[in-house]
Amino acid sequence: ISMVIKNVCCIGAGYVGGSSCSVLAWKCPDIHVHVVDVSHDTIKQWNSHNLPIYEPGLDEVVKECRGCNLFFSNDIDRAVREADMIFISVNTPTKTYGIGKGKAADLQYVEVCARKIAEVANGPKIVVEKSTVPIQAAQFITHILAANTKPGVSFQVLSNPEFLAEGTAIENLVNPDRVLIGGEESSGGESAMEELTWIYHHWIPQHNIITLSTWSSQLTKLASNAFLAQRVSSINAISAVCEAIGADVSQVADAVGRDSRIGSKFLHASVGFGGSCFEKDLLSLVYIAESLNLPEVARYWQHVNDINHYQRTRFGQRITASLFNTVTDKALAVFGFAFKKNTGDTRESPARCICSQLLEEGARINIYDPKVERQQIMNDLTSTKATSEPERIQKLIHIYTDPYQAVIDTHAIVILTEWDEFKSYDYKKMLSVMKKPAFLFDGRKIIDHEAVIKLGFNTHTIGKKFTPNTL
Ligand code: UDX
Ligand code: UDX
Ligand code: ADP
Repeated sequence: ISMVIKNVCCIGAGYVGGSSCSVLAWKCPDIHVHVVDVSHDTIKQWNSHNLPIYEPGLDEVVKECRGCNLFFSNDIDRAVREADMIFISVNTPTKTYGIGKGKAADLQYVEVCARKIAEVANGPKIVVEKSTVPIQAAQFITHILAANTKPGVSFQVLSNPEFLAEGTAIENLVNPDRVLIGGEESSGGESAMEELTWIYHHWIPQHNIITLSTWSSQLTKLASNAFLAQRVSSINAISAVCEAIGADVSQVADAVGRDSRIGSKFLHASVGFGGSCFEKDLLSLVYIAESLNLPEVARYWQHVNDINHYQRTRFGQRITASLFNTVTDKALAVFGFAFKKNTGDTRESPARCICSQLLEEGARINIYDPKVERQQIMNDLTSTKATSEPERIQKLIHIYTDPYQAVIDTHAIVILTEWDEFKSYDYKKMLSVMKKPAFLFDGRKIIDHEAVIKLGFNTHTIGKKFTPNTL
């Protein structure tokens, strides 16, 4: 017998939970959606005009649904009790301690949620695992729930990994390439999968909804992110060869991508990938492979991540080397701090690592990013993870809200995020207020290099060498 889902609750109001459930509420006016979080601040922001995350289109969706069928609160118990279906979207960071330190996904928050659900549930519930690193999570949740059933209470656990990319979350949620629903191969499992399929049917065609086993679903999420990361590392590895032999990585990427078996996406050479998923998922895959006694597999994926670190460090070193082997006391303007354009997120941003590298060398850096908050940048660069000398480093950082102010008296402009606005700046005007010789390091390959070389910038980019500027 199919029960109709009327009440959905989501534990965790972060990137994944907040945006996916907002779209769910928007597309399913017949479903009451309650998003809860332990953080009072986060919930306060979700209920304000200033949402805790920036995503193009999200404000409009939330504005339309909030108070109608979309609610944000800290009342986790009530939300769980009332819900027919519970999404778990809490954070699963890389473990920073104990077994699997630096690699394994930390499932402590997922476990807390499972125990909470077991404690307050008073009827049948479908529990849907949506967190970013779901491998094994569904098995753990099932185990905890099964050990805590009460009369009249039953649980089905599904895996429904989320593939949204930041900056395009709403677009990805509204029109996903595919939706994965993983579940148990039993009648209970199958009917739970049907319930979740019914929800997605509100806006997603059947042929884009894939039902599969829980393990396949969880592994698909890791594999997808690992493949995407691997493409970026592959083209970045080629970029180093291009610089050494005088080829142009953009030409190579374009030509390689024309092979329909390869495809053109995710072949943009850069300072390296960032974001909360790629590194974490790669490391998680490495850890799983090691745990399963598959060291060759572990090494393969580990190397994708190693290339990423190599790429960042290489770019930082190139900046120092080009500036006559020293950046000490030199002011440099840094454009972009977020890990990619159209987001204010700085998690694992290559900009953090490259700025830290330059700060360690004693450079003074003027940072401008259209979306990242001043405090976020300061915290990132002065945290104990970033430096052992926060006071010294703090004095070297200046944060600007106007890029034209940021470049005054600097020796170089360093582009670290691919924000569109960087393409249309008046670089002639910028050059006129900079120290000479002036340098431009484009770590994202987004501006017109021939044009800035003509203006007189000593220009450097990834995967291509220019003849030294004599102007
Ligand atoms: C390859 C390139 O495809 C071609 O463009 C180039 O000019 C020469 O090298 P070829 O070696 O003839 O061509 O065959 P290909 O179809 O690419 O297969 C190579 C090997 O990979 C085969 O042993 C094939 O069985 C294997 N393969 C291919 C897989 O194991 N899995 C796949 O998904 C695809
Ligand atoms: C990624 C996956 O795309 C998404 O499906 C998954 O759910 C979460 O992880 P996200 O990290 O938000 O999403 O952004 P993505 O667009 O994948 O970019 C990741 C990083 O790779 C960024 O730092 C980006 O600048 C970099 N990148 C991407 C490149 O350097 N070159 C490329 O060609 C593509
Ligand atoms: P993601 O990018 O995976 O969405 P975030 O860190 O943005 O991750 O969001 C995860 C959210 O989950 C945070 O807002 C955090 O406060 C919340 N959270 C963590 N543990 C719990 C819990 N036990 N109950 C409710 N919310 C939780």
